[in-house]
Amino acid sequence: MENWKQIDAAFLRHPFSHPDDVKDMLFVVRAQGDSVFDDRGERYLDAAASWWVNLFGHGHPPLVQALAQQSETLAHVMFSGITHRPALELARDLIALPGSPGGSVFFSDNGSTAIEVAMKLAWHYCKQNQVDSTCFWAFSGGYHGDTLGAMSAGERDVFVQPYLHLLAPVHFLEYNPKEGYDLDCIRRRIQQERPAAFLYEPLLQGAGGMRMQAPQALLPLLKLLKEEGVLLIADEVFTGFGRTGTTLASEQLIQPDLLCLSKALTGGFMPLGATLMSQEIAAATEQTDRNKRFYHGHSYTANPMACALALETLREWKSPTWQNAFEWLKQNHHARASEWKDRFPGSDARSLGSVLAINVPRKTSGYFYTDSIGREMYVAGLKAGILFRPLGNVLYTVPPLCIGALELERIYGFMENMLIQQGHT
Ligand SMILES: Cc1ncc(COP(=O)(O)O)c(C=O)c1O
Repeated sequence: MENWKQIDAAFLRHPFSHPDDVKDMLFVVRAQGDSVFDDRGERYLDAAASWWVNLFGHGHPPLVQALAQQSETLAHVMFSGITHRPALELARDLIALPGSPGGSVFFSDNGSTAIEVAMKLAWHYCKQNQVDSTCFWAFSGGYHGDTLGAMSAGERDVFVQPYLHLLAPVHFLEYNPKEGYDLDCIRRRIQQERPAAFLYEPLLQGAGGMRMQAPQALLPLLKLLKEEGVLLIADEVFTGFGRTGTTLASEQLIQPDLLCLSKALTGGFMPLGATLMSQEIAAATEQTDRNKRFYHGHSYTANPMACALALETLREWKSPTWQNAFEWLKQNHHARASEWKDRFPGSDARSLGSVLAINVPRKTSGYFYTDSIGREMYVAGLKAGILFRPLGNVLYTVPPLCIGALELERIYGFMENMLIQQGHT
């Protein structure tokens, strides 16, 4: 397709992009294993797992097979008043995961919708139980998606500012991963503000800059909130499937009341959102009074192909092959972060599970997304045959688990070069 850049600029709008970005745009024609390939046959290592969704690698044969089989049997059917095996089996398996709230699952389409469902369920539960709440709580610097409810709980940054008047009431707790939290002060605030629920990215704020938090810092806060009757909504859209070292980050913390999954849930093949809820929250949806029921739905709720992919993803993830690959990646990341911490003390080199991140020096002091360094690193990455998705000056990798030693070394080499070139000490 010769004139694809003109067609794209004229007829398409991309997420978080400007039409000018078309000049550095890739025309991707296929993807295999750890890489994507463009129309010129160039290969790019997928260092950011296609926006953190890919788990094992592109075109992973068991997932291809699961999708093909399911599409031949039942591609889709509405989920109101109807059920099917892929949804039944997947719900059963998700609920059994360590850290899960242990009740029921509501399926939707993506990470943002999983959050919307959780926020509405929390509100619904509070109404059913005469809990007198007027707001939600969330961490500063968080990201939960781009629909209005999810956006309300995210950082009020350049992306959110134009819509402030449309947002749900959310009050923020300063994210303080290093020092932890002043629990007496927070207890007093809970009594004043009576939040219905606290929405948090457990142990790792992704879009906010790969900001990692030790369980010891977060756990006392979550316990206090639970004791005070504030519902916990764990946003594991990014953290699910090993990004913090365990299948769910909540496994290292406390059982939340609601837990949201998406992204790697289908191994990176299809969109699917899942909101897991406790038995108490599920009970609040069992009202017989038609005026008090929980009403929410999407046309593609519990799409059978997406559910079949997620089931296969869970099966594969638990296999020794992938658990070994995951351990290997974790150890490599950890060793490299320790080395860089010594060599480049200002880089805040850090790793958690399958994520490795550094901060490269920035040229301006504005909000970090508006800094040009992110775009410069993206373009430099493409030239080196690596597809990154920097977050401002934060350069990170969360590669597909099939990545080999040589390819991983190429990614590390690029990151290290960025530190050297930008004069990091
Ligand atoms: C923690 C977290 N929650 C929610 C979302 C929203 O997911 P989606 O892009 O599928 O709507 C994201 C997306 O990056 C995320 O990182």
